Amino acid sequence: MSKLLALVTLAIAANSVAAVGPWGQCGGLNYSGSTQCDAGLNCVKLNDWYSQCQPGQNQPTTPAPTTSVPTTPIPTPTTPTTTSNPAPTGTGWVPVPSASANGLQDKLYKRGKHYFGACADPNTLNIASNVAVLQREFGQVTPENSMKWDAVERTFHRILHNFRELMYVDIDAASRGQFSFGNADTLVNWATSNGKLIRGHTLVWHSQLPGWVNNISDRATLTTVIQNHIQTVAGRYAGKLLDQILAWDVCNEIFEENGTLRNSVFNRVLGESFVTIAFQAARKADPTAVLYINDYNLDSVNSKVNGMVSLVNRVNQANPNTIDGIGTQMHLQAGMGSTSQAVLTALAAANVKEIAVTELDIVGAPSNDYTQVVRACLNTPKCVGITVWGVSDANSWRSSSTPLLFDRSYNPKAAYTAIANIL
Ligand code: XIL
Repeated sequence: MSKLLALVTLAIAANSVAAVGPWGQCGGLNYSGSTQCDAGLNCVKLNDWYSQCQPGQNQPTTPAPTTSVPTTPIPTPTTPTTTSNPAPTGTGWVPVPSASANGLQDKLYKRGKHYFGACADPNTLNIASNVAVLQREFGQVTPENSMKWDAVERTFHRILHNFRELMYVDIDAASRGQFSFGNADTLVNWATSNGKLIRGHTLVWHSQLPGWVNNISDRATLTTVIQNHIQTVAGRYAGKLLDQILAWDVCNEIFEENGTLRNSVFNRVLGESFVTIAFQAARKADPTAVLYINDYNLDSVNSKVNGMVSLVNRVNQANPNTIDGIGTQMHLQAGMGSTSQAVLTALAAANVKEIAVTELDIVGAPSNDYTQVVRACLNTPKCVGITVWGVSDANSWRSSSTPLLFDRSYNPKAAYTAIANIL
């Protein structure tokens, strides 16, 4: 009976939160936030773990750009060499990742950026064609799922998927403090043996978060839980640069579309202070990693971009050198590349050492949009690298929109060639 009451309470709490904006999460296994999308959006299931608010049939799928961007000339390429490290553009010296000559990594690196990366995990590292492209073209990997909170501190995740909800909640609570790093270690070991940098992803996120964290209601407990989680996860891979953790996405998707803080358990219980708590814990756990705040829909100079810049400046003014970098995910629709320069310029104006494009994919993979994003990073000194959210359309989280640089057979698409041509 008490379990039933707890579930009813949870359901009421979930329903009382605000509706979700475009491209936000609206469902998925163990998701406890709002399942209501804003007017004109539909909640579309992407997979068992993630449903997303997408524009409905009669909504434009391509938001009209709000800012037009003058084309800025691209700097002249530096003399290509395979051994020298370009002048550091961000926080400091970064080792040279290993990749093939004339691949995307090699070309972008010679233009003064640290990496051209892609997300990966054991489920894509066991596909030979995918690995061949990663080895050749990319110098950095981001774990797509394996370092998320529910992956490392949620032992029974997959088994429970087949059980009833009641059973699920009870055992989920028992997973607190039970860490399992199998998939994360596999990703890190692969990067180590292949000379790739790693962007750790992600430490504090409202999504893919175990239910027991969502149920915490007092400040002291949640603070300790955040600190312990970060110490255990970031501490595990700390202290190394090449082949290990270059950067961490410490806080992910913490803003509403209007630029205020999202109604997450972290904000409800701790207010804005959770940001500093999380970043200070990450600094302590891994003093050499570059610490990022990361978000989506920062795709025109909008309220969310302004909210991000204000928060970063506020936090860094109160405690200097807390947040090192801002990541913009860039899960784009066709046509949205045109505002990428304005956005990167706005983010780079914040009091941070560097910025990065962290999860790039573009519906239909138009060459023009991809090259606009790459040019924007080239033209923004603080932009240190670009990571695409997958290699092939076959394994993309939004596979049906064919948003990546390689087709389902791992062959380069037109956008790949267009990027290679401008680099
Ligand atoms: C996505 C993964 O690609 C999916 O496999 C998973 O089911 C849901 O999460 N923003 C993020 C990423 O920060 O972690 C998300 O990755 C995509 C949106």
